[in-house]
Amino acid sequence: MAEELTPETPEETEDQPIKQRKNGLYQGVSDELAENMKSGWADTELRGLAPIAQAEHTAARRAALSARFPGERLVVPAGNLKTRSNDTEYSFRASTEYAYLTGDQTQDGVLVLEPVKGGGHQATIYLLPRSNRENGEFWLDGQGELWVGRRNSLSEAEQLLGIPAEDVRELPGALKDATGPVRVVRGHDAGIEAALTDKVTAERDEELRVYLSEARLVKDAFEVSELQKACDATARGFEDVVRVLDKAEATSERYIEGTFFLRARVEGNDIGYGSICAAGPHATTLHWVRNDGPVRSGDLLLLDAGVETNELYTADVTRTLPINGRYTELQRKIYDAVYEAQEAGIAAVKPGAAYRDFHDAAQRVLAEKLVEWGLVEGPVERVLDLGLQRRWTLHGTGHMLGMDVHDCAAARTEAYVDTTLEPGMCLTVEPGLYFQADDLTVPEEYRGIGVRIEDDILVTEDGNRNLSDSLPRRADEVEAWMAGLKG
Ligand code: GLY
Ligand code: MN
Ligand code: MN
Repeated sequence: MAEELTPETPEETEDQPIKQRKNGLYQGVSDELAENMKSGWADTELRGLAPIAQAEHTAARRAALSARFPGERLVVPAGNLKTRSNDTEYSFRASTEYAYLTGDQTQDGVLVLEPVKGGGHQATIYLLPRSNRENGEFWLDGQGELWVGRRNSLSEAEQLLGIPAEDVRELPGALKDATGPVRVVRGHDAGIEAALTDKVTAERDEELRVYLSEARLVKDAFEVSELQKACDATARGFEDVVRVLDKAEATSERYIEGTFFLRARVEGNDIGYGSICAAGPHATTLHWVRNDGPVRSGDLLLLDAGVETNELYTADVTRTLPINGRYTELQRKIYDAVYEAQEAGIAAVKPGAAYRDFHDAAQRVLAEKLVEWGLVEGPVERVLDLGLQRRWTLHGTGHMLGMDVHDCAAARTEAYVDTTLEPGMCLTVEPGLYFQADDLTVPEEYRGIGVRIEDDILVTEDGNRNLSDSLPRRADEVEAWMAGLKG
């Protein structure tokens, strides 16, 4: 910490009143300094701004929402900063619902759709305006632009987003005074929810959340291009990891996590979920995110990671790689079985197919292999009926993908798992086989081997497109790809 930022607690005196405590720093502000700080600043207002690339799409999404809830006020908050420790916060990630409907990602922002006479809604986005320089807020307040950076003015936000903008500090009062039915997306902004507490019900708010989850089941053209971008950046992140496997061997799984994170931050907003960098037996732990284990030649690395784009769409990709570049015979046998299951799963992704088909197709292949290897007693139908394969397949074969890695999670069963696939849906196909290190029911050499292969599959008019197919999947292709990168 720089010398001048060392916290100090000066005595308050008449000519040096303490005006503000900021980040543990007491600031004495003379009247002369306060006056001086008011002026001498250039006008930086931006004019004639072009709308953001997805402005037409967000307008269409708001129009669909408006049609679903006529005559009701709808409140969709971006959310607030969350404390990490003391006065430091986690990096902010706007709520999916808010970003989906506005294209904006500003902390504390709120979208309100207010019903208008004659039908439809008027959308307003509530944001913190540029800092006031007259009252010293811009340099004395913790949210002042001098501390946190320049914000868009309300006028700039309007031009960019295509939505009229108002001062968010006025919103709680306005909501308290509002009459008529209201719904709010819960879980993001406690202050906004408190202002609405006597106006909303959990059941009605849940209907809004469910609608916004189901609305995202079919992706528009902008969303598809974002998902492709996410997959392409993710593929480059996997290449980065292969290039540094020797450094990971010298350190730990953390080297892999950090390497992928660098790609995510340079090409996108972040990682879309905690990277699973699971070497050796850690591959059998489905959500291994501690990533603090050794990386050893001869073992497999299960890497499940995804770049989230700057517009908040994430990839979700897994490759299981031989750390030294060559699968052993047994590793390859298990890998090939998972590959075959994934091929069967991907082939079942097409318009008109039942959502469950790809899972059933992949599970059947895995059950057949487990019976063939003598790990479970057949026939295969019996294994599938009793679900006995699940001791080693563990999880569902995939899920919807989009702004959330497990996208559309609030959708009703009939709209998601019991639905048929439509063009524009995007889902992962990710079968796996996992033999726990302490599983006494399998031969010793299987123990500690985990394999998953995961790709992001877009349903198209005539079948599907694998958005992540720039990464090889077949065992021999994986080996050749690794050899090329390690060169
Ligand atoms: N990375 C989480 C999942 O594959 O579902
Ligand atoms: Mn995954
Ligand atoms: Mn997944």
